[in-house]
Amino acid sequence: MYALRPFFIAFGLIIGVVSYEHSPTNASYPWSERIDFPLIPVAVSMIPKSGNLLVWSAYKNETFGVDASGVTQTAIYNLTDGTVNRYSIDHTEHDMFCPGISLDFQGNIIVSGGDTEEKTSIYDGQSWKAAADMQIPRGYQASTTITDGRIFTIGGSFSGGIGGKNGEIYDPEADKWIMLPGCSAEPMLTNDAGGLYRSDNHAWLFAWSNGSVLQAGPSPKMHWFDTRGNGFTTFAGTRANDSDAMTGTAIMYDAGKGKILTLGGAPSYNDSLATSNAHIITVRKPGEPVSVETLDNMHSARAFANSVILPDGRVFVVGGQSHPIVFTDGNSSMVPEMWDPKTKKFTELPALPTPRNYHSTALLLPNATVFVGGGGLCPWKCDINHLDAHIYTPPYFFESDGVTPATRPIITHIPNPILKVGQTLNVTLSKPVESYQKLTFSMIRMASSTHTVNTDQRRVNVSPQAATSTLFTLGLPRDPGVLLPGYWHLFAMLNGVPSIAETILVEPPLA
Ligand SMILES: *[C@@H]1O[C@H](CO)[C@@H](O)[C@H](O)[C@H]1NC(C)=O
Ligand SMILES: *[C@@H]1O[C@H](CO)[C@@H](O)[C@H](O)[C@H]1NC(C)=O
Ligand SMILES: *[C@@H]1O[C@H](CO)[C@@H](O)[C@H](O)[C@H]1NC(C)=O
Ligand SMILES: *[C@@H]1O[C@H](CO)[C@@H](O)[C@H](O)[C@H]1NC(C)=O
Ligand SMILES: *[C@@H]1O[C@H](CO)[C@@H](O)[C@H](O)[C@H]1NC(C)=O
Ligand SMILES: *[C@@H]1O[C@H](CO)[C@@H](O)[C@H](O)[C@H]1NC(C)=O
Ligand SMILES: *[C@@H]1O[C@H](CO)[C@@H](O)[C@H](O)[C@H]1NC(C)=O
Ligand SMILES: *[C@@H]1O[C@H](CO)[C@@H](O)[C@H](O)[C@H]1NC(C)=O
Ligand SMILES: *[C@@H]1O[C@H](CO)[C@@H](O)[C@H](O)[C@H]1NC(C)=O
Repeated sequence: MYALRPFFIAFGLIIGVVSYEHSPTNASYPWSERIDFPLIPVAVSMIPKSGNLLVWSAYKNETFGVDASGVTQTAIYNLTDGTVNRYSIDHTEHDMFCPGISLDFQGNIIVSGGDTEEKTSIYDGQSWKAAADMQIPRGYQASTTITDGRIFTIGGSFSGGIGGKNGEIYDPEADKWIMLPGCSAEPMLTNDAGGLYRSDNHAWLFAWSNGSVLQAGPSPKMHWFDTRGNGFTTFAGTRANDSDAMTGTAIMYDAGKGKILTLGGAPSYNDSLATSNAHIITVRKPGEPVSVETLDNMHSARAFANSVILPDGRVFVVGGQSHPIVFTDGNSSMVPEMWDPKTKKFTELPALPTPRNYHSTALLLPNATVFVGGGGLCPWKCDINHLDAHIYTPPYFFESDGVTPATRPIITHIPNPILKVGQTLNVTLSKPVESYQKLTFSMIRMASSTHTVNTDQRRVNVSPQAATSTLFTLGLPRDPGVLLPGYWHLFAMLNGVPSIAETILVEPPLA
């Protein structure tokens, strides 16, 4: 059991109802009507147990303060009926602006540090609870759930003092953080013009086999953190000719093959030129050097962008600035792009209705559309606050004419939606499938995102081992470093058109 502080029921208030479900009618304008929020969605997470979306800003809706007040403005966006409920959370005494976020094995949202730099708060889908303080106070750190269910964090000099933000790890069962002296932040520091305060921010962390974590950026020098015992660090190689890629993005788009796509970023956090660089990193065994492939560049240079893996394996890259300056919308990269893992090329997409830069977010939704929101939240009153979001409808929703709605397969039954890593999953579809070649399945881990960091999202292909015309038995990966336990979305795809996702709870394998 967690050791809990007393808490009080949060006060909830319905602030708005989207009275209609607006879906774009064609692929040439794939953006929904604007969805208004009572606050800037600077952080966003799927709520695994309810299938809704949690968003939050800082102690206020539209601005933040360093004199941490211990309050966070949050809202829940109900994806079924479009209502937005506002909640001011103060009983955990945690201003959760600029935190580390990780979804654990049980679907709890674990939020560490930020403006109230030492605190940890846990949202279990019903209520927030205060958990143990970190050993080192942090803000702008990254955290990731690892294969034994613990949560590793490193970096974060934005809050709680500058430098020495070495690795530590949270055990949710013991409700305890402990230091990992063998995982120093030193090797991953960038040469940011802003100094050490910026150079350990937003690490690109990926949980992998046997409790390991790959740090794939933003520094071009990559490292393995072994979280066993006191921790251990191994150099994993250099990201080809890439520069420091602060506020770039990195996405594990095919975990079964150990494939990570890295995109953009800038040498310094603020006021430096972003790149359009793209690389594939291939991960094999923990501790072994990773391999790096340099790709053709993106069409636009981007820092402060977000990248979202889609069910079909394509990566949707949205927002950011070519010359990133915090709290501005100048030089916005308004044209999103799609990366195709088959051709390894980027294609430009219809322009954004609203700039989405510093403090913006993007997340895959269970119906295979993408939430794109936020941006702004200056420390003073400013005119680039975006208290809103749009839903992006990817091209797979339309036939090749771009107008006719594509026919989506329908998953009607899954007898075993709670299962262990390595087991088989049975899926029944609504209609017989004529050609199995046209049918594929993928799983995408439910995710969270803030400040370009999303360590929860990853995708695996899952292929049928046996089938009748409507019942498919899918073999799941056997390594929890690939199929990281927790809540996942399962998609069936017919001719590349995804179903609505079913929720799957993946439990750790039997010891
Ligand atoms: C596509 O949809 C947009 C927005 O609804 C509309 O303005 C435009 O005319 C449509 N284009 C076509 C080719 O149907
Ligand atoms: C946030 O906005 C809501 C209205 O949307 C308002 O009622 C509330 O007082 C605001 N909270 C703060 C802390 O400004
Ligand atoms: C997907 O879900 C969002 C959020 O509920 C909704 O606004 C949108 O209309 C849905 N789109 C489709 C194609 O189902
Ligand atoms: C979301 O809306 C649906 C439809 O109104 C409702 O049944 C459900 O209880 C809501 N979910 C939550 C978590 O409030
Ligand atoms: C780095 O850039 C140089 C010069 O453009 C090129 O010759 C070299 O192949 C590149 N190295 C890698 C690993 O991409
Ligand atoms: C970011 O850079 C701009 C342009 O140089 C500067 O005006 C601003 O003060 C900088 N902001 C921070 C937080 O460093
Ligand atoms: C994990 O550790 C076990 C025991 O040391 C070892 O047999 C196995 O090969 C390791 N797996 C990977 C993927 O490194
Ligand atoms: C846009 O970028 C250019 C090139 O770096 C720079 O000269 C200009 O000041 C930037 N504009 C804004 C509004 O930030
Ligand atoms: C899955 O399907 C296979 C093949 O039809 C069957 O043997 C097995 O019992 C099913 N498992 C579950 C959990 O339904």
